[in-house]
Amino acid sequence: QTKRWNVKTEQPDQQAIAEAVDLLQNGRTVSFPTETVYGLGADATNAPAVSGIFQAKGRPEDNPLIAHVATKEQLLNLVTGLSLVAEKLLDAFTPGPLTLVLPSNGTCAANVTAGLSTIGVRIPDHPVAQALLKTCDRPIAAPSANLSGKPSPTTADHVWADLQGKIAGLVDAGPTGVGVESTVVDCTQEIPVILRPGGITKAQLEAVAGSVMVDPALAGTAENPKAPGMKYTHYAPEVPLWLVAGPPDNVQAVIDREHANRKRIGVMASTETAAKLHSARIIPLGSDLRSVAANLYDALRVFKSGDVDIILCEMFSKTDIGQAIMNRLEKAATDFVDN
Ligand code: TXA
Ligand code: MG
Repeated sequence: QTKRWNVKTEQPDQQAIAEAVDLLQNGRTVSFPTETVYGLGADATNAPAVSGIFQAKGRPEDNPLIAHVATKEQLLNLVTGLSLVAEKLLDAFTPGPLTLVLPSNGTCAANVTAGLSTIGVRIPDHPVAQALLKTCDRPIAAPSANLSGKPSPTTADHVWADLQGKIAGLVDAGPTGVGVESTVVDCTQEIPVILRPGGITKAQLEAVAGSVMVDPALAGTAENPKAPGMKYTHYAPEVPLWLVAGPPDNVQAVIDREHANRKRIGVMASTETAAKLHSARIIPLGSDLRSVAANLYDALRVFKSGDVDIILCEMFSKTDIGQAIMNRLEKAATDFVDN
C-alpha cells in the first residue's frame, strides 16, 4: 500500500509532488531522492510522524536525524545561530552534500535530535527534494531510506526492496548522483569537525574554512563517535565482505584460493582492476573515485546469498571522496585480507 510516483528529475510532476506533500503534512512517511541517496522523510515538527521513520527503518532511537530544508532562511529558523565559519561553509557548499551540526532552537520535535541540544541541518541539491521541501514549507526529517544496517539506497528500487508496505509513499526519480551520503560537520565549536566523511571532501572544506578537524573516532580509536549513527553496524551486504589490500594480483590470488575451497566469489573493483581478473562474478565500479562512490551501494546490494559466498572488494585511496568510500567499506567489511 505504498504509493509510488515516477517523476522526471529536472521537471518533477506537480501533481505527484502535491500528493507526496499532502502525505507529509498529514504526518505520514515519504521517501524521496536527494543528490546523495534516497531519504525517508517525515514532518520534523511532528513527533509521531518522526516516530514513523524510526519504526519503518528499525532505527535505534538514540540516532538523531537530519532536518532537510529548501533554503538558508528556512535553515536559520531551526538553529540558535550560525558562527562565521558555519555560514561560510553553508554559502560555499549548499545546496549540496553537506550537513551542518548546529545548536538547535527547539523548532524540530525532540525525537529528531534524539534529545541532543544540537541538530543536523542540510539543504539538498536535487530538483525533486527542492520541489518537495519548497511546497511542504516545513522542515523534513530524513535519514537514508534503507532498513537500519543495510546499504543506503541510491535507486527507488533499493527503497522499495527495503520499505515497501512500511511507508506511505516513494517518489522515484531514478538513480541519485553522488552515491555516498552528505559530509556531516560539527560547527558548534570554533574549528569545524568532520563527524562523517561524505560528498564534500576535507580538502574542499579546508579551502573555505581554513583548519578542519576529523572526529578521532573515525580513525578507529576506541573513542565514542560524536555522530551517534557512526557506531552502528552499517551497509552490510547479504554475504561476508572481505577487503583485499594490494594490487590486482592479490585479489586474483584470493579468488583462486577461495575457488579451490569451493567458494563462489563476487568481486567489486575499479574498472581497470576488474579487467585483469577472472573466475569470479565481477562488478566494475568505474575508473575514478567519483564513479566508485556512485556505484558502491548498488554493488553491495547486487550480490545475493544465493549467488555468491564471499564478496571481495579492492581497497581504494583515501584521498578526496575515497575517504567516504573507505569509511563505508570498512563498516561493511567482515574481514581484511592481504592475500
Ligand atoms: O546524504 C545524507 O545525509 C542522507 C540524505 C537522505 O540526506 N541522509 C542521511 O541520514 O544519511 P542518516 O540519518 O542516514 O545519517 C545521519 C548521520 C548519522 O550518523 C547521525 O548520527 C548524524 O548524521 N547526526 C545527525 N544529527 C546529529 C547531531 N545533532 N549530532 C551529531 N551527529 C548527528
Ligand atoms: Mg543512514
